[in-house]
Amino acid sequence: MLGILNKQEYDLIVNETMSLYKERGPIFQKDEAIRNASLSSMQFMLAAKNTGWDTCPMIGFDPDEIRKILSIEDKYEIGLMITLGKEKVESRKQQGYRKPVNEFVTII
Ligand SMILES: Cc1cc2nc3c(=O)[nH]c(=O)nc-3n(C[C@H](O)[C@H](O)[C@H](O)COP(=O)(O)O)c2cc1C
Repeated sequence: MLGILNKQEYDLIVNETMSLYKERGPIFQKDEAIRNASLSSMQFMLAAKNTGWDTCPMIGFDPDEIRKILSIEDKYEIGLMITLGKEKVESRKQQGYRKPVNEFVTII
């Protein structure tokens, strides 16, 4: 605990949060897991880029197999996989489907 909340406030927030997730059921729980994983993933990918790494989000894998290999408990949802490495710049291909960034982003 950071000491911002006292024990009573802390317990109340934890209990309310736990019952919210319990009451709303497994679909909400899974949706929330994916929402949280997505936000964290984007943050991770931006932080990686900022420190000189490149990433790719992926869903093309067998989550059951990954669960087995990494001994991930059932209580955890596997949202996506992120590869991390260094882009091989000389292999970069022009992609017809991607608009040039400066068409819709201005750096000021
Ligand atoms: C949610 C999501 C899942 C993806 N899953 C895969 C995947 O399973 N395999 C794959 O090769 N690319 C996947 N991609 C695409 C790559 O992460 C990457 O964005 C794509 O290869 C284009 O890369 P580039 O434009 O940076 O070269 C996925 C992208 C997103 C947003």
